[in-house]
Amino acid sequence: MNPPWSTPANRGGPVVAVDGPAAAGKGTLARCLADALGLPYLDTGLLYRAVGRIALDAGRDPAQPAQDIAQALLAADLQRPDLRVAEVAQAASKVAAQPAVRAALVDTQRRFALDRGAVLDGRDIGTAIFPDADVKLFITASPATRAMRRFLQMGGDSTAPDCAARLHEMEAALRARDTADASRDVAPMRAAADAHVIETDTLSAQAVLAEALRIARARLAIIRA
Ligand code: DC
Repeated sequence: MNPPWSTPANRGGPVVAVDGPAAAGKGTLARCLADALGLPYLDTGLLYRAVGRIALDAGRDPAQPAQDIAQALLAADLQRPDLRVAEVAQAASKVAAQPAVRAALVDTQRRFALDRGAVLDGRDIGTAIFPDADVKLFITASPATRAMRRFLQMGGDSTAPDCAARLHEMEAALRARDTADASRDVAPMRAAADAHVIETDTLSAQAVLAEALRIARARLAIIRA
């Protein structure tokens, strides 16, 4: 008899893919989903950020081949406290456009889900890493909404005199990263044809979680039936 979470790929649990652009709230959502479903969670952006960080630390241009770094990446590299800064986000986007870097990180992501299944968030989880994911979500919001959320997350004061200028700058950076992530040749960011797209502009984080959980539980019930 099949185990309760048997999937086409015979993993030990279901895979939930959470894709979408930067600052759409998919990290928070994916972590909460993983908690609620009792699954391990992987933020796959950290893989590309760690490769970018190591390249910068070595004085290398992140646009130059970096697959040697990706091949030698350690779990501890993902724990570094200096991965969530703008400079590293830009470097991550550049190394993520390199097919050889992406290829070097595929197995790590697939192995992560092998024993118990997982929730993974990124840009290509439902299209390239797990095209057979049990649940596929694509979380998005307008660049203006995402810039405002990021601004507030970073402790920004919406009454400060430079608020408009900073928001404008953040929105421009998000748009540039969206363009780079969506236009690269290999595994560009896009919603899988069978993904559930959730537009979060007018939704609270709790409402997004409730909707995502509703979709995930319905899909997983079908698989278990
Ligand atoms: O989600 P994030 O901002 O931490 O991602 C950092 C960069 O890595 C982003 O520019 C896109 C890239 N990335 C990717 O190409 N594929 C993934 N699965 C995750 C992130």
